[in-house]
Amino acid sequence: MENLCKSYRVAEKQLKVLDGLTVEFPEQSITVILGRSGCGKTTLLRVLGGFEEYDSGTLLRPPLHKMGMVFQEPRLMPWLTVWKNVIFGLPKAQVDPDRIRELINTVGLVGFENAYPAQLSGGMQQRAALARALAYDPELILMDEPFAALDHFIREAMQDELLRIFSVHKKSIIFVTHSIDEALLLGQKILVLDQGRVEQEFSLESFDYPRDILSPELIDVKKNIIKIITQRSIT
Ligand SMILES: Nc1ncnc2c1ncn2[C@@H]1O[C@H](COP(=O)(O)OP(=O)(O)O)[C@@H](O)[C@H]1O
Ligand SMILES: [Mg+2]
Repeated sequence: MENLCKSYRVAEKQLKVLDGLTVEFPEQSITVILGRSGCGKTTLLRVLGGFEEYDSGTLLRPPLHKMGMVFQEPRLMPWLTVWKNVIFGLPKAQVDPDRIRELINTVGLVGFENAYPAQLSGGMQQRAALARALAYDPELILMDEPFAALDHFIREAMQDELLRIFSVHKKSIIFVTHSIDEALLLGQKILVLDQGRVEQEFSLESFDYPRDILSPELIDVKKNIIKIITQRSIT
């Protein structure tokens, strides 16, 4: 995207949310959008997904991108089982039971295929939502703070799971978070967003997975990020 701008009209006023973003999102890579609450992360993701109009600038997407989206909350259909939720939206002819079984296995929900969302924990529901996004076999997955509502241990397991899936399938992933640690664990590229602008980009391609975020190198990156975010938000 180049020089992309977007504002909302709220009570007769223009609220500028994206203020001239120029970003390249590499394919088959995990790009993290990091920033505090209200800085425009969800708006950016929605613009990228084509769910939201923008005011000016350029957005170029490779053609025929199949896209999946995972939200902060699972958004499952409460009246459908795990299995039916996972295949929801797939044309019948495209439902390959072996593949769906494998996906359910990947997200650790074997034995719960016939359970309803209300019978699952929040973490399990979120894993079902991840399986649903993957069932569509998207080339691009947009993830909006997908693990933010999970407790620490499930969150770690899901981050590991995402990296495992990524190592096998090499999807293009754009992952929004407000957690610096999560950004350091997952991002090959980290964009620090503040007040509608990319304050800084970090390239972490040289750090292999799984990462030790307590390593001196990553602690240095973390200090840098904290400096950028705190400096900007005081002004
Ligand atoms: N549909 C909308 N209409 C008006 N204002 C909105 C809308 N969506 C978001 N905003 C405002 O835009 C800003 C950025 O929101 P958002 O993109 O959701 O940020 P984030 O995801 O980083 O928390 C916030 O000030 C929010 O109140
Ligand atoms: Mg948001």
